[in-house]
Amino acid sequence: IAQGNTFKIGLILPMTGQQASTGRQIEAAAKLYMAQNGDTVAGKKVGLIVKDDTSIPDVTKRLAQDLVVNDKVNVLAGFGITPSALATAPIATQSKTPLVVMAAATSSITQASPYVVRTSFTLAQAAVAMGDWAPKNGIKKVVTLVSDYGPGIDAEKYFKERFLFNGGQVPESLRVPLRNPDFAPFLQKVRDLKPDALFVFVPSGAGAAVMKQFLERGMDKAGIKLIGTGDVTDDDQLNGMGDGALGVVTSHHYSTAHPSAVNKKFVEAFGKANPGLRPNFMAVGGYDGMRVIYEALKATKGQGGGDALLAAMKGQIFESPRGPMFIDAQTRDVVHNIYLRKVEKKDGQLYNVEFDVIKDVKDPGKAK
Ligand code: DHB
Repeated sequence: IAQGNTFKIGLILPMTGQQASTGRQIEAAAKLYMAQNGDTVAGKKVGLIVKDDTSIPDVTKRLAQDLVVNDKVNVLAGFGITPSALATAPIATQSKTPLVVMAAATSSITQASPYVVRTSFTLAQAAVAMGDWAPKNGIKKVVTLVSDYGPGIDAEKYFKERFLFNGGQVPESLRVPLRNPDFAPFLQKVRDLKPDALFVFVPSGAGAAVMKQFLERGMDKAGIKLIGTGDVTDDDQLNGMGDGALGVVTSHHYSTAHPSAVNKKFVEAFGKANPGLRPNFMAVGGYDGMRVIYEALKATKGQGGGDALLAAMKGQIFESPRGPMFIDAQTRDVVHNIYLRKVEKKDGQLYNVEFDVIKDVKDPGKAK
């Protein structure tokens, strides 16, 4: 196929290393989207080039440079963690290539380049919802524990701000390293402080380790609840966490158990194509990101350069497996519902079951 008849998407993901589950989920979702929607769009043959950045930002940047210069990709996509997205943003700007963030979730990423469009979520969106829910549900004193980088700092800031505004107390805010964290000494400290709850943010794939140590140290028996954004009860790992996870309440934009027809179809197709794997919020960010790219390609009739594609991505509105969502044309960031969910057992499986919703939440992290 001649170069002029192809449309290339450079999908950069952590396929190995600590964030590998993010890469596995997003790659599977992107391939599902293509299988369902075909690989010929507006007369172009769509090619997906998957690269493993091992979640090292310098590697992400080098791969992006190579994809733009040598492979001449039309769109860059993926980005498992915030530092990878931030390292690559200047390349999107210089080459006028749309950069679709499918995973990373620090508010500031969309401000790092006018070519960034986000289909994942922001920690600020999820954390504010928990800052409202907790004090209305008997939780007055909270210790926060977050991974010490962009999304963790956002989660801590936006949870704390709202929780304090609602009359709560936060006697201590703890930060753990992103790489190879040992939660034990931090959890001991939490036990000594005896808060009503521990608010946690760790990235996708790290939740099971937190849950294990939380239970091993008998934090639940000491009367300390576990709350957080939905990253900690990641649907990719939740089933393996055991009954100790029952009752954990989190706020997030996606649950495998979201009870809509669109989601039921998505979960079923994803499971069929990937036996033993259920889609988590990363998969949904990837699936919706592919939709945004496909629709931009259609809207520009296959003729669009980077600026035309970017313009066609802004303002897209559609029903995602997460529920209704749109890409805010001003901020290029996702607007969607945030749900309160509780871990429950259904047919022998653990799920984040939604029990309340805050509709059409914009990123609170954008300058007013
Ligand atoms: C980020 C990564 C995650 O795995 C997650 O669950 C949330 C945010 C990030 O690096 O932005």
